[in-house]
Amino acid sequence: MISPDPAALRSATPVVDNWLDAGWADRELRADVSVGLSSSPKELPPKWFYDDRGSELFDQITRLEEYYPTRREREILELEADAIAAASGADCLAELGSGTSTKTRILLDAFASAGQLHRYVPFDNSEATLRNAAEELVEAYPGLRVHGVVGDFEHHLGRLPLDEAERPPEAPPRAPAMVILLGSTIGNFSPAHRPAFLDAVAGATQTGDTFLLGTDLVKDADRLVAAYDDSAGITAQFNLNVLSVLNRRLGADFDLEAFEHEAVFDAHNEWIEMRLRSVRAQRVHIPALEMTVDFAAGEPMRTEISAKFRPEGVRAELGAAGLVTQRMWTDAEGDYALTLARRVRRD
Ligand code: SAH
Ligand code: TRP
Repeated sequence: MISPDPAALRSATPVVDNWLDAGWADRELRADVSVGLSSSPKELPPKWFYDDRGSELFDQITRLEEYYPTRREREILELEADAIAAASGADCLAELGSGTSTKTRILLDAFASAGQLHRYVPFDNSEATLRNAAEELVEAYPGLRVHGVVGDFEHHLGRLPLDEAERPPEAPPRAPAMVILLGSTIGNFSPAHRPAFLDAVAGATQTGDTFLLGTDLVKDADRLVAAYDDSAGITAQFNLNVLSVLNRRLGADFDLEAFEHEAVFDAHNEWIEMRLRSVRAQRVHIPALEMTVDFAAGEPMRTEISAKFRPEGVRAELGAAGLVTQRMWTDAEGDYALTLARRVRRD
């Protein structure tokens, strides 16, 4: 009888830690909704989009013809994954907002053929999506240790487990790790919040670690708007789904038929703004917050921004956080950029 490879046995089930205690997430949701709907103009923060249905709709968005960012990012990864793996020298890959980890497989393949990677740490606040992805990956990559974390990357990066175990201070430095953030997810932060987020990413790493960042680039407004207002109406459903989340979790009575999806390119701020526009005057009740909210006919509510970048801006923002750009790749059309930056010593 052939005895099973112990490394393969160890990886047969993924480890998934859940750092989102239900009470905490609930308080966050309540605070976000009560602040957002009392401000003028009204707004809702984007992290509540991704319940199970939202994650499924986002997955459909990534396969739309009009939604070029996923395709472009995949093209760059297919060409450059070997170079990225070699330049990073990493044996641990941690992915923020990993979702279904679909494109990540291109990187995992490159690391696997270089015999380099031992650990993958997907990190997402959508538990079901993360668990599914983790289970599929341990099947597909025998020997890869998958350590998933259900967490909020706006709050929990300080605990990102780039190390397999706590190491004592006198232990030799660990092998380099690479943190990745794909899908132009960084564009969903307000520009004012990006420096603190990048500082937190840098703070989670040690000198010599790398950060791989995907950013959609400024381009023609028509193509931008089409990517966020597709003809099949999937993005509209995705945007409206945030109202179902509030109905379910807060007992609200949003009528999804009474709001319209809208995507506008703000050329001054260089971001796409996603809105839900009230088609008529209406009053919405949110019992969990003891709140009633009035919408005027035609009143917009902002649900998301998706910032568009310029290469020199990406380099400058990373640099300000102590992440020095080593390579930047764009696709042949100049639509999208992937940047590999290395964490330098900071004082
Ligand atoms: N990386 C994938 C998915 C991008 S969508 C891709 O490139 O296609 C953004 C992902 O980030 C979703 O899976 C969503 O669940 C997750 N996410 C959004 N806000 C988050 C937060 N605050 N903390 C952790 N994950 C978050
Ligand atoms: N990070 C993605 C992006 O900015 C998220 C996204 C794509 C999105 N389509 C959307 C967010 C529609 C809200 C609505 O491209």
